[in-house]
Amino acid sequence: MKSLLFVTLCFSTCPLMVVGRHPTCNFLLEVERDQAECLRRLREEDAAGSHKESGCKGVWDNIACWKQTEIGETVTIPCPRVLKTVFGRNGNISRNCTSAGWSDVFPNITSACGSDTSQDKLVFYVVVQTLYTLGHSLSLIALTTGSAIL
Ligand SMILES: *[C@@H]1O[C@H](CO)[C@@H](O)[C@H](O)[C@H]1NC(C)=O
Ligand SMILES: *[C@@H]1O[C@H](CO)[C@@H](O)[C@H](O)[C@H]1NC(C)=O
Ligand SMILES: *[C@@H]1O[C@H](CO)[C@@H](O)[C@H](O)[C@H]1NC(C)=O
Repeated sequence: MKSLLFVTLCFSTCPLMVVGRHPTCNFLLEVERDQAECLRRLREEDAAGSHKESGCKGVWDNIACWKQTEIGETVTIPCPRVLKTVFGRNGNISRNCTSAGWSDVFPNITSACGSDTSQDKLVFYVVVQTLYTLGHSLSLIALTTGSAIL
């Protein structure tokens, strides 16, 4: 229930918050920071000339950062920081790099990083969906407010 209030507050005050850096809720700023860090890391990998023709490209999937990986390898990362903040779980999530590209995230991100109570499951679902679909507008917000955030 607490997390429901938290998330509702965050998303309802989101535009204001991102622009004004509302101090009580840095939920989305946290995602943005993760994204910036991820993109920087992927750029560094590229610049280091480690870019390969085969394998899976490093990606930011709007929640988590997946580094460039060889076919047949599995990448395992901790739950994204933003989900840790809300749900307090210390699980790991993985993705396989296959010849057909990245597999889906496994185990089910809900069971790995979410919460067990049914109330929180719904919240989690909303958070994850929102984050995934919000990706582009977040970048837009970051662009338009520019150095105010960075
Ligand atoms: C997640 O991965 C870390 C480091 O690989 C490991 O120490 C930890 O036990 C893992 N946690 C779970 C819940 O599997
Ligand atoms: C990922 O790879 C492991 C080991 O190769 C395999 O057991 C697992 O089923 C694969 N999972 C997915 C979702 O592709
Ligand atoms: C993950 O598990 C939850 C229930 O634990 C289920 O409702 C949801 O559909 C699953 N998601 C995926 C992608 O399998």
